[in-house]
Amino acid sequence: MSSTRTRLAIGIAAALALATPLAIANADAATTLPTVLAAHPAAAPAATTYTAAQVLAAIQQHSTSATQVNTKPHINTMTRAQNVNVYQPASGVFVYTSSMAIDDDGSDPDPDPDHQGETTFQDSSGKQLAAHHVPFYVLGDDCWDNKTPCPHFFYKEHGISGRQFALVFYNGKAIGAIFGDTQTGNSQTTSDNDSRELGEASVKTASLLGIPSSGTTGGVDNGVTVAIFSGPSWVVNGTNANLSDNAQALVQNALNTLGASLAGGTTTPPPPSGTLFEAETGTLSSGGTFDSNHLGFTGTGFANPANAVGAYVQIPVTATTAGTKTLSFRYSDGTTAARPATITVNGTSRGTLNFPVTANWDTWSTATISVPLNAGANTVRVTGTVADGPANIDSVTVSQ
Ligand code: GCU
Repeated sequence: MSSTRTRLAIGIAAALALATPLAIANADAATTLPTVLAAHPAAAPAATTYTAAQVLAAIQQHSTSATQVNTKPHINTMTRAQNVNVYQPASGVFVYTSSMAIDDDGSDPDPDPDHQGETTFQDSSGKQLAAHHVPFYVLGDDCWDNKTPCPHFFYKEHGISGRQFALVFYNGKAIGAIFGDTQTGNSQTTSDNDSRELGEASVKTASLLGIPSSGTTGGVDNGVTVAIFSGPSWVVNGTNANLSDNAQALVQNALNTLGASLAGGTTTPPPPSGTLFEAETGTLSSGGTFDSNHLGFTGTGFANPANAVGAYVQIPVTATTAGTKTLSFRYSDGTTAARPATITVNGTSRGTLNFPVTANWDTWSTATISVPLNAGANTVRVTGTVADGPANIDSVTVSQ
Protein backbone atom coordinates (compact mmCIF):
# COMPACT_ATOMS: atom_id res chain seq x y z
CA MET A 1 0.00 0.00 0.00
CA SER A 2 1.24 3.47 -0.76
CA SER A 3 1.36 6.14 1.87
CA THR A 4 -1.70 7.80 0.36
CA ARG A 5 -4.24 6.89 2.95
CA THR A 6 -7.84 7.86 3.35
CA ARG A 7 -8.12 10.18 6.30
CA LEU A 8 -11.39 11.86 5.44
CA ALA A 9 -12.76 12.01 8.94
CA ILE A 10 -9.54 12.76 10.77
CA GLY A 11 -10.83 16.29 11.31
CA ILE A 12 -13.51 14.86 13.61
CA ALA A 13 -10.96 12.90 15.60
CA ALA A 14 -8.69 15.91 15.78
CA ALA A 15 -11.56 18.11 16.94
CA LEU A 16 -12.46 15.60 19.63
CA ALA A 17 -8.89 15.41 20.77
CA LEU A 18 -8.65 19.19 20.80
CA ALA A 19 -11.72 19.36 22.98
CA THR A 20 -10.13 17.24 25.72
CA PRO A 21 -6.66 18.58 26.50
CA LEU A 22 -7.61 19.10 30.15
CA ALA A 23 -8.68 15.49 30.55
CA ILE A 24 -5.42 14.34 29.00
CA ALA A 25 -3.39 16.54 31.29
CA ASN A 26 -5.28 15.32 34.34
CA ALA A 27 -4.86 11.69 33.36
CA ASP A 28 -1.13 12.22 33.00
CA ALA A 29 -0.83 13.99 36.32
CA ALA A 30 -2.49 11.06 38.02
CA THR A 31 -0.09 8.54 36.54
CA THR A 32 2.72 7.42 38.80
CA LEU A 33 5.78 7.02 36.66
CA PRO A 34 9.14 5.51 37.20
CA THR A 35 11.54 8.42 37.28
CA VAL A 36 14.68 6.46 36.55
CA LEU A 37 14.91 7.88 33.06
CA ALA A 38 14.47 11.51 34.07
CA ALA A 39 15.68 13.81 31.35
CA HIS A 40 18.13 16.62 31.83
CA PRO A 41 17.23 18.86 28.89
CA ALA A 42 19.07 21.82 30.40
CA ALA A 43 22.33 19.91 30.70
CA ALA A 44 25.26 20.55 28.40
CA PRO A 45 25.32 18.37 25.26
CA ALA A 46 26.09 14.83 26.33
CA ALA A 47 29.30 13.15 25.30
CA THR A 48 28.92 10.19 22.99
CA THR A 49 28.83 7.11 25.14
CA TYR A 50 26.30 4.97 23.33
CA THR A 51 25.80 5.01 19.59
CA ALA A 52 22.47 4.62 17.81
CA ALA A 53 23.51 1.15 16.63
CA GLN A 54 24.43 0.02 20.15
CA VAL A 55 21.20 1.25 21.68
CA LEU A 56 19.05 -0.21 18.90
CA ALA A 57 20.77 -3.58 19.32
CA ALA A 58 20.14 -3.49 23.09
CA ILE A 59 16.49 -2.51 22.51
CA GLN A 60 16.04 -5.46 20.16
CA GLN A 61 17.61 -7.79 22.70
CA HIS A 62 15.18 -6.59 25.37
CA SER A 63 12.11 -6.71 23.10
CA THR A 64 10.84 -10.13 24.12
CA SER A 65 7.55 -11.59 25.29
CA ALA A 66 8.65 -10.75 28.84
CA THR A 67 8.65 -7.02 28.06
CA GLN A 68 5.69 -6.92 25.64
CA VAL A 69 3.06 -4.34 26.62
CA ASN A 70 0.19 -5.10 24.22
CA THR A 71 -1.75 -8.34 24.27
CA LYS A 72 -3.33 -7.83 20.84
CA PRO A 73 -1.18 -6.98 17.81
CA HIS A 74 -1.13 -3.56 16.20
CA ILE A 75 -1.48 -2.88 12.47
CA ASN A 76 1.48 -1.74 10.34
CA THR A 77 0.13 1.49 8.84
CA MET A 78 1.70 0.90 5.41
CA THR A 79 1.45 -2.86 4.87
CA ARG A 80 -1.69 -3.36 7.04
CA ALA A 81 -0.09 -6.51 8.51
CA GLN A 82 -1.25 -7.15 12.08
CA ASN A 83 2.22 -7.88 13.36
CA VAL A 84 3.40 -4.85 15.32
CA ASN A 85 4.05 -5.16 19.06
CA VAL A 86 5.10 -2.64 21.68
CA TYR A 87 7.77 -3.47 24.24
CA GLN A 88 9.01 -1.82 27.41
CA PRO A 89 12.74 -2.65 27.36
CA ALA A 90 13.44 -0.29 30.28
CA SER A 91 11.24 1.44 32.82
CA GLY A 92 9.21 4.18 31.16
CA VAL A 93 10.44 3.50 27.60
CA PHE A 94 8.01 2.09 25.01
CA VAL A 95 9.26 0.77 21.68
CA TYR A 96 7.78 -0.49 18.43
CA THR A 97 9.14 -1.21 14.99
CA SER A 98 6.90 -0.66 12.01
CA SER A 99 6.47 1.31 8.80
CA MET A 100 6.67 5.01 8.28
CA ALA A 101 3.64 6.37 6.46
CA ILE A 102 3.92 10.11 5.89
CA ASP A 103 1.74 12.52 7.84
CA ASP A 104 1.67 15.94 6.15
CA ASP A 105 -0.96 17.48 8.44
CA GLY A 106 -0.75 20.75 10.26
CA SER A 107 0.12 24.34 9.58
CA ASP A 108 2.53 23.74 6.69
CA PRO A 109 0.71 23.78 3.35
CA ASP A 110 0.81 20.51 1.39
CA PRO A 111 -0.68 19.56 -1.99
CA ASP A 112 -1.74 16.11 -0.72
CA PRO A 113 -5.57 15.91 -1.06
CA ASP A 114 -5.65 14.17 2.35
CA HIS A 115 -3.84 17.05 4.06
CA GLN A 116 -5.57 18.20 7.25
CA GLY A 117 -4.94 21.61 8.74
CA GLU A 118 -4.98 20.36 12.31
CA THR A 119 -2.74 18.09 14.34
CA THR A 120 -3.88 16.61 17.65
CA PHE A 121 -1.20 18.48 19.57
CA GLN A 122 0.19 21.98 19.14
CA ASP A 123 3.47 23.75 19.65
CA SER A 124 4.13 25.68 22.87
CA SER A 125 2.48 28.78 21.36
CA GLY A 126 -0.72 26.90 20.65
CA LYS A 127 -0.10 26.71 16.87
CA GLN A 128 -0.88 23.56 14.91
CA LEU A 129 2.32 21.58 14.37
CA ALA A 130 4.02 21.94 11.00
CA ALA A 131 4.66 18.54 9.44
CA HIS A 132 7.41 19.86 7.13
CA HIS A 133 9.30 21.46 10.03
CA VAL A 134 8.61 19.35 13.12
CA PRO A 135 9.58 15.67 13.37
CA PHE A 136 6.53 14.10 14.95
CA TYR A 137 5.16 10.59 15.29
CA VAL A 138 1.56 9.37 15.36
CA LEU A 139 -0.18 7.04 17.86
CA GLY A 140 -3.72 5.66 18.11
CA ASP A 141 -6.28 8.15 19.34
CA ASP A 142 -8.13 5.80 21.70
CA CYS A 143 -8.35 2.20 22.88
CA TRP A 144 -9.81 0.15 20.02
CA ASP A 145 -11.44 -2.30 22.43
CA ASN A 146 -12.72 0.40 24.80
CA LYS A 147 -11.20 -1.50 27.73
CA THR A 148 -9.01 -0.56 30.67
CA PRO A 149 -6.28 -1.67 30.67
CA CYS A 150 -6.26 -1.56 26.89
CA PRO A 151 -5.28 -4.83 25.18
CA HIS A 152 -3.37 -2.66 22.72
CA PHE A 153 -0.73 -0.12 23.62
CA PHE A 154 -2.66 3.04 24.47
CA TYR A 155 -0.53 6.07 25.19
CA LYS A 156 -2.78 7.57 27.88
CA GLU A 157 -2.12 4.54 30.09
CA HIS A 158 1.64 5.07 29.98
CA GLY A 159 2.37 8.66 30.95
CA ILE A 160 2.67 9.82 27.35
CA SER A 161 1.28 13.18 26.33
CA GLY A 162 1.57 15.70 23.51
CA ARG A 163 5.16 16.51 22.41
CA GLN A 164 6.52 13.45 24.25
CA PHE A 165 10.08 12.80 23.16
CA ALA A 166 11.04 9.69 21.16
CA LEU A 167 14.15 8.40 19.50
CA VAL A 168 13.39 7.26 15.95
CA PHE A 169 15.88 4.78 14.46
CA TYR A 170 16.26 3.95 10.78
CA ASN A 171 19.13 2.73 8.69
CA GLY A 172 21.80 3.16 11.37
CA LYS A 173 20.64 6.63 12.38
CA ALA A 174 18.69 7.98 15.38
CA ILE A 175 16.83 11.30 15.45
CA GLY A 176 14.62 12.99 18.02
CA ALA A 177 10.89 13.37 17.42
CA ILE A 178 7.83 14.39 19.42
CA PHE A 179 4.30 12.98 19.73
CA GLY A 180 2.33 15.25 17.43
CA ASP A 181 -0.73 13.63 15.94
CA THR A 182 -3.13 10.75 16.57
CA GLN A 183 -4.55 8.08 14.37
CA THR A 184 -8.25 7.89 13.87
CA GLY A 185 -10.34 7.00 16.89
CA ASN A 186 -13.23 4.54 17.09
CA SER A 187 -15.64 7.34 16.27
CA GLN A 188 -14.38 7.40 12.68
CA THR A 189 -16.45 5.32 10.31
CA THR A 190 -15.55 6.71 6.89
CA SER A 191 -11.98 5.46 6.68
CA ASP A 192 -10.20 2.12 6.77
CA ASN A 193 -7.75 3.55 9.32
CA ASP A 194 -8.10 2.87 12.99
CA SER A 195 -6.43 3.42 16.33
CA ARG A 196 -4.63 0.05 16.25
CA GLU A 197 -2.27 1.36 13.57
CA LEU A 198 1.34 2.11 14.37
CA GLY A 199 3.83 3.39 11.84
CA GLU A 200 3.22 6.96 10.76
CA ALA A 201 5.29 10.10 11.24
CA SER A 202 5.61 13.57 9.80
CA VAL A 203 7.30 14.73 6.61
CA LYS A 204 10.17 16.16 8.69
CA THR A 205 10.76 12.87 10.54
CA ALA A 206 11.10 11.10 7.20
CA SER A 207 13.40 13.68 5.67
CA LEU A 208 15.72 13.68 8.71
CA LEU A 209 16.04 9.90 8.35
CA GLY A 210 16.48 9.86 4.57
CA ILE A 211 13.08 8.27 3.95
CA PRO A 212 11.07 9.52 0.91
CA SER A 213 8.89 12.17 2.54
CA SER A 214 6.13 12.95 0.05
CA GLY A 215 2.69 12.71 1.64
CA THR A 216 1.39 10.85 -1.42
CA THR A 217 4.29 8.68 -2.62
CA GLY A 218 6.72 8.62 0.31
CA GLY A 219 7.20 6.35 3.29
CA VAL A 220 8.77 3.00 3.94
CA ASP A 221 7.06 -0.31 4.74
CA ASN A 222 9.22 -1.56 7.62
CA GLY A 223 12.31 -1.08 9.74
CA VAL A 224 11.49 2.16 11.59
CA THR A 225 11.88 1.86 15.38
CA VAL A 226 10.28 4.42 17.68
CA ALA A 227 11.39 4.50 21.35
CA ILE A 228 9.11 6.77 23.38
CA PHE A 229 10.44 8.22 26.65
CA SER A 230 7.45 8.71 28.95
CA GLY A 231 6.96 11.11 31.82
CA PRO A 232 6.79 14.89 32.13
CA SER A 233 10.57 15.41 32.04
CA TRP A 234 10.68 14.14 28.46
CA VAL A 235 8.00 16.46 27.04
CA VAL A 236 9.67 18.79 24.53
CA ASN A 237 8.71 22.44 24.51
CA GLY A 238 9.19 24.89 21.66
CA THR A 239 7.61 26.38 18.59
CA ASN A 240 7.40 25.13 15.03
CA ALA A 241 10.63 27.07 14.40
CA ASN A 242 12.73 25.32 17.06
CA LEU A 243 10.97 22.10 18.12
CA SER A 244 13.13 20.04 15.78
CA ASP A 245 16.36 21.51 17.16
CA ASN A 246 15.09 21.06 20.72
CA ALA A 247 14.29 17.42 20.05
CA GLN A 248 17.66 16.77 18.37
CA ALA A 249 19.41 18.33 21.40
CA LEU A 250 18.03 15.49 23.54
CA VAL A 251 19.14 12.64 21.28
CA GLN A 252 22.55 11.88 22.76
CA ASN A 253 21.24 12.23 26.33
CA ALA A 254 18.47 9.81 25.47
CA LEU A 255 20.87 7.32 23.84
CA ASN A 256 23.17 7.48 26.87
CA THR A 257 20.34 7.14 29.38
CA LEU A 258 18.69 4.22 27.63
CA GLY A 259 22.03 2.63 26.73
CA ALA A 260 23.18 2.69 30.36
CA SER A 261 19.81 1.43 31.54
CA LEU A 262 19.81 -1.51 29.13
CA ALA A 263 23.38 -2.34 30.06
CA GLY A 264 22.09 -2.82 33.61
CA GLY A 265 23.95 0.24 34.78
CA THR A 266 21.81 2.96 36.22
CA THR A 267 18.15 2.11 36.53
CA THR A 268 18.25 0.73 40.03
CA PRO A 269 19.97 1.62 43.26
CA PRO A 270 23.18 -0.32 43.82
CA PRO A 271 22.96 -3.14 46.32
CA PRO A 272 23.75 -2.05 49.88
CA SER A 273 27.33 -2.25 51.13
CA GLY A 274 28.45 -5.45 52.80
CA THR A 275 29.08 -8.88 51.38
CA LEU A 276 26.64 -9.77 48.66
CA PHE A 277 25.36 -13.29 48.01
CA GLU A 278 23.41 -13.91 44.84
CA ALA A 279 20.11 -15.72 45.22
CA GLU A 280 20.98 -17.85 42.20
CA THR A 281 23.73 -19.57 44.24
CA GLY A 282 20.96 -21.00 46.42
CA THR A 283 18.19 -23.55 46.12
CA LEU A 284 14.45 -23.30 45.60
CA SER A 285 11.49 -25.30 46.80
CA SER A 286 9.53 -27.15 44.15
CA GLY A 287 8.09 -24.96 41.39
CA GLY A 288 10.59 -22.12 41.82
CA THR A 289 12.93 -21.04 39.03
CA PHE A 290 16.00 -18.86 38.63
CA ASP A 291 15.05 -16.32 35.98
CA SER A 292 16.61 -13.43 34.09
CA ASN A 293 13.57 -12.05 32.28
CA HIS A 294 13.31 -8.81 34.26
CA LEU A 295 15.77 -5.95 34.08
CA GLY A 296 18.20 -4.67 36.65
CA PHE A 297 19.24 -7.84 38.50
CA THR A 298 22.81 -8.40 39.60
CA GLY A 299 24.75 -11.57 38.86
CA THR A 300 23.19 -13.92 36.36
CA GLY A 301 19.56 -13.71 37.44
CA PHE A 302 17.20 -13.79 40.38
CA ALA A 303 15.10 -16.29 42.31
CA ASN A 304 11.44 -16.59 41.36
CA PRO A 305 10.11 -18.84 44.13
CA ALA A 306 6.84 -20.70 43.56
CA ASN A 307 3.53 -18.95 44.18
CA ALA A 308 2.46 -20.79 47.32
CA VAL A 309 2.45 -20.48 51.09
CA GLY A 310 5.65 -22.21 52.21
CA ALA A 311 7.52 -21.73 48.92
CA TYR A 312 11.09 -20.66 49.57
CA VAL A 313 14.52 -19.73 48.30
CA GLN A 314 17.46 -20.72 50.48
CA ILE A 315 20.73 -18.84 50.07
CA PRO A 316 24.12 -19.85 51.50
CA VAL A 317 25.93 -16.91 53.12
CA THR A 318 29.11 -16.58 55.14
CA ALA A 319 30.12 -14.29 57.99
CA THR A 320 33.66 -13.63 59.15
CA THR A 321 32.60 -13.34 62.80
CA ALA A 322 29.65 -14.64 64.80
CA GLY A 323 27.10 -12.06 65.94
CA THR A 324 24.10 -10.00 64.95
CA LYS A 325 24.24 -8.97 61.30
CA THR A 326 21.93 -7.11 58.99
CA LEU A 327 20.52 -9.03 56.03
CA SER A 328 19.42 -6.80 53.15
CA PHE A 329 17.34 -8.60 50.59
CA ARG A 330 17.23 -7.05 47.13
CA TYR A 331 13.81 -7.97 45.74
CA SER A 332 11.01 -6.97 43.41
CA ASP A 333 7.27 -7.44 43.67
CA GLY A 334 5.52 -6.08 40.58
CA THR A 335 2.04 -6.96 41.83
CA THR A 336 -0.31 -4.86 43.93
CA ALA A 337 0.07 -6.86 47.15
CA ALA A 338 3.05 -7.13 49.51
CA ARG A 339 4.70 -10.53 49.94
CA PRO A 340 5.67 -11.01 53.58
CA ALA A 341 8.03 -13.91 54.21
CA THR A 342 9.52 -15.72 57.20
CA ILE A 343 13.29 -15.39 57.46
CA THR A 344 14.88 -18.54 58.77
CA VAL A 345 18.60 -18.68 59.60
CA ASN A 346 20.25 -22.07 60.05
CA GLY A 347 16.82 -23.61 60.59
CA THR A 348 15.55 -21.11 63.19
CA SER A 349 12.83 -18.63 62.32
CA ARG A 350 13.92 -15.04 62.97
CA GLY A 351 10.61 -13.37 62.21
CA THR A 352 8.47 -12.24 59.32
CA LEU A 353 9.88 -9.59 57.00
CA ASN A 354 7.58 -7.54 54.81
CA PHE A 355 8.40 -7.17 51.10
CA PRO A 356 6.25 -4.24 49.96
CA VAL A 357 5.30 -3.81 46.30
CA THR A 358 7.71 -2.21 43.84
CA ALA A 359 6.69 -0.19 40.77
CA ASN A 360 7.07 -3.26 38.51
CA TRP A 361 9.16 -6.43 38.21
CA ASP A 362 12.11 -4.43 36.83
CA THR A 363 12.29 -2.19 39.89
CA TRP A 364 14.27 -3.49 42.85
CA SER A 365 14.07 -2.45 46.46
CA THR A 366 15.59 -3.70 49.70
CA ALA A 367 14.06 -5.18 52.83
CA THR A 368 16.29 -5.60 55.87
CA ILE A 369 16.26 -7.63 59.07
CA SER A 370 18.81 -8.21 61.87
CA VAL A 371 19.65 -11.82 62.65
CA PRO A 372 22.35 -13.77 64.49
CA LEU A 373 24.85 -15.52 62.19
CA ASN A 374 27.57 -18.07 62.92
CA ALA A 375 31.16 -17.46 61.94
CA GLY A 376 31.61 -19.22 58.59
CA ALA A 377 28.78 -20.87 56.67
CA ASN A 378 25.10 -20.11 57.27
CA THR A 379 21.88 -20.71 55.39
CA VAL A 380 19.24 -18.03 54.99
CA ARG A 381 15.80 -19.11 53.88
CA VAL A 382 13.00 -16.79 52.68
CA THR A 383 9.65 -18.57 52.98
CA GLY A 384 6.42 -17.08 51.66
CA THR A 385 3.56 -16.64 54.12
CA VAL A 386 0.95 -15.73 51.49
CA ALA A 387 -0.48 -17.63 48.53
CA ASP A 388 1.61 -15.58 46.07
CA GLY A 389 4.77 -16.95 47.68
CA PRO A 390 7.84 -14.78 48.23
CA ALA A 391 8.83 -11.82 46.06
CA ASN A 392 11.49 -12.23 43.36
CA ILE A 393 14.78 -12.23 45.28
CA ASP A 394 17.95 -10.95 43.58
CA SER A 395 20.48 -11.15 46.40
CA VAL A 396 21.09 -10.88 50.10
CA THR A 397 23.83 -8.68 51.54
CA VAL A 398 25.33 -9.36 54.95
CA SER A 399 26.63 -6.36 56.87
CA GLN A 400 27.67 -5.72 60.48
C1 GCU B 1 5.26 -12.77 37.08
C2 GCU B 1 6.72 -12.32 37.02
C3 GCU B 1 7.58 -13.28 37.80
C4 GCU B 1 7.06 -13.34 39.22
C5 GCU B 1 5.62 -13.82 39.20
C6 GCU B 1 5.01 -13.86 40.59
O1 GCU B 1 5.10 -13.97 36.38
O2 GCU B 1 7.16 -12.30 35.67
O3 GCU B 1 8.94 -12.85 37.78
O4 GCU B 1 7.84 -14.19 39.99
O5 GCU B 1 4.84 -12.96 38.41
O6 GCU B 1 3.88 -13.41 40.74
O7 GCU B 1 5.63 -14.36 41.50
